[in-house]
Amino acid sequence: MINFDDLKQKILKHEIVIGVIGLGYVGLPVACMFAKSDFQVIGLDIKQDRIDKINLGESPIEGKEPGLSELLQEVVSSGHFKATTDYNLLSQADIILIDVETPVDENNRPQYVALRGACSSLAKVMKDGVLVIVESTIAPGTIDRVVQPLLEECSNKKSNIDFYLGACPERVMPGKLLTNLHKMSRVCGGSTQEVSDVMVTLYQNIVEADLDTADPVTAELTKTAENAYRDVQIAFANELAMICESTGADFIRVRELVNKSPGRNVLLAGAGVGGHCIPKDPWLLAFGAQDKTPLRLIPAARAVNDGMPIHIGELLKSALGEKGLSLTGSQIIILGYSYLENSGDIRNSPSEKLVSWLRMQNANVLIHDPWVEEYKGDLLKMAIGCDAAVLMVAHQDYFELSLKELGKSLRHHILVDGRNVFDQEEAIASGFSFKSLGRGE
Ligand SMILES: NC(=O)c1ccc[n+]([C@@H]2O[C@H](COP(=O)([O-])OP(=O)(O)OC[C@H]3O[C@@H](n4cnc5c(N)ncnc54)[C@H](O)[C@@H]3O)[C@@H](O)[C@H]2O)c1
Repeated sequence: MINFDDLKQKILKHEIVIGVIGLGYVGLPVACMFAKSDFQVIGLDIKQDRIDKINLGESPIEGKEPGLSELLQEVVSSGHFKATTDYNLLSQADIILIDVETPVDENNRPQYVALRGACSSLAKVMKDGVLVIVESTIAPGTIDRVVQPLLEECSNKKSNIDFYLGACPERVMPGKLLTNLHKMSRVCGGSTQEVSDVMVTLYQNIVEADLDTADPVTAELTKTAENAYRDVQIAFANELAMICESTGADFIRVRELVNKSPGRNVLLAGAGVGGHCIPKDPWLLAFGAQDKTPLRLIPAARAVNDGMPIHIGELLKSALGEKGLSLTGSQIIILGYSYLENSGDIRNSPSEKLVSWLRMQNANVLIHDPWVEEYKGDLLKMAIGCDAAVLMVAHQDYFELSLKELGKSLRHHILVDGRNVFDQEEAIASGFSFKSLGRGE
């Protein structure tokens, strides 16, 4: 058994070694922040090219991450942070954070290849008394059903005797990784209250916000529930927007009026939900029920949000139809390919879904995105000769786009707005046949 007061003292004196497994969007910034806070940090990833880059002080994270490149350079040069592919080096670590990807498979069940891989490799080298904290987002019950048995089996050690376990899910958003890490509260879910208290002592070195203690399953539930909640709320807005279209109403106005009612806060509707987390975390939450609870709302919300890119495709089809055109053979330009405005992150991009659907309908598709290297370019030149434009992402650049100029480039004045970026009156005054999500005619 470990002496928790000793471990706390070692943390307070910065005398512990911290291991971080998985150096992606989440693991790399965490590793850098602990290294900046004067801990010795060993980062581990299975991708050699990523490790080589990191050890040169170059961030492998795509998109703009304010401060991350500079911080990485600083902690690599100071010698506080070293990255490796060699699990043996983790035998020195007193506390190990696991930050590997946790996607769902085609049946929406957790796909823990990376998590299992990390646990089984770690178990072979971890020292006695180590505290292992899973920061990855996992289905409720995963620490008990997957992580603990795997670590015990592969190490021949016993949880809460030879090693300790916790769940402390991350709440970061790409584009704000360091700020979010620093400023957002965390749930420290330890296998015992003493473990949770040690976790608080650790995280207070990098987090300036509430650090709430809980058990692991509460931490797992909190993280997956907050993203499932968001998904359900977005789905409600999306369904309301489609009802507004059917009834000839304007979703933006209806939303404004609904939100005057106390306690109501309908979100904006949009052309789909993407990114690494929201499309899969509701499924992780649902999986936690282990078939003991009938699930209706979470799958329904997922279905609504997953259907939005095709709904935008249907709006386009109808706009083309009104001009006697069809999707087959038409040339369409898509405005925006990332999943988030003003970001280059294209993981689970709704535009990707729309583009493949349009190509299946035999449309020719061009893609413009000022944030995604592959799709950068002069929008007005790219639009020359296109039959229609479809806005999928509310990048700032598109708010500044002159509709008159866009109209001059396009062969037909057809514009579909999946994010309510353009002003309807201006679009119509510029001669467009205009369809916008949630605006009925
Ligand atoms: N990206 C986000 O914005 C975000 C936000 C909050 C929570 N999360 C959660 O954090 C976790 C990590 O997400 P991410 O976006 O950082 O993923 P990522 O894909 O960017 O990074 C994961 C890293 O783990 C590495 N890896 C995989 N298997 C490994 C193994 N066996 N040993 C060592 N390294 C291994 C991969 O090579 C990769 O570099 C996920 O559970 C995710 O849901 C992500």
